[in-house]
Amino acid sequence: MNRNLTAVSHTLASSDRAAHYGHQGAVLWLTGLSASGKSSLAMALEHALMGLGYSCYVLDGDNVRNGLNCNLGFGPEDRAENIRRVGETAALFADAGLICITAFISPYRADRGRARHACRQAFHEIYIAADLATCESRDPKGLYKKARAGELPDFTGIGAPYEPPEDPELIVDTSREPIASSLATLVDYVFRNIPLS
Ligand code: ADX
Repeated sequence: MNRNLTAVSHTLASSDRAAHYGHQGAVLWLTGLSASGKSSLAMALEHALMGLGYSCYVLDGDNVRNGLNCNLGFGPEDRAENIRRVGETAALFADAGLICITAFISPYRADRGRARHACRQAFHEIYIAADLATCESRDPKGLYKKARAGELPDFTGIGAPYEPPEDPELIVDTSREPIASSLATLVDYVFRNIPLS
C-alpha cells in the first residue's frame, strides 16, 4: 500500500454480512472461449441462485467493457488490466457478502492467478470448456467469421491464445452436454461449497 494511505477498518465483520445474507461472499470466476456459454450460464446461474435465496450479481465482459473498462482493448496488456480491475471488483463484491459471478474470457493463466490472489479463499475458478470448433460453429456474434477474414487479428482462439486452467475448482463442458445440465452442475457446486445458513 502507498505509504501515504492508511487502511480504514470496517465496523461490520464478514460474519455480520454472512448472517445478513445467509451465506458467505464468493467469486465464481467463469473462464472460457468466446461463445463457450459463459454469459448464458452466468445469467441463468444468477437467476437460479436468487430463487434459492442467494444474493448475487453478474459481471460480464461485454458489459464491463462498455463502462468501467471502455478504455481497454484486446492486446495482452489491456486484457491483463481488464482482468486486474475485474478481480479487484469481484473481491469487493465478495467482501460485501455477495456472490459475484464473473463471465470473462480471461485467457491468460497469470491474470487469473492474480484475480485468485485478490479474492483469496472466496475465489472459485470454473472452466467453461467448449472446444474451439464448437464455439466457432456457434459464433453468435459473427466474431469468429470476422477473425477468419482477418478483420479481428487478436481474436481469442484464432490470432490470440487461450490458456486453459490447470487446476480449476470445477469444469463444465457445454460441447458435451445441454446447457441445463451444466447449470445443474453449477447450482449443485454452489449448494455444496457455499451453503445457505
Ligand atoms: S478478456 O480476454 O479481456 O477476458 P472479455 O471477456 O473482457 O475478454 O471480452 C470478451 C468479449 O469481447 C467477447 O465476448 C467478444 O464479444 C468481444 N471481443 C471483441 N474483440 C475481441 C477479441 N479480439 N478477442 C476476444 N473477444 C473480443
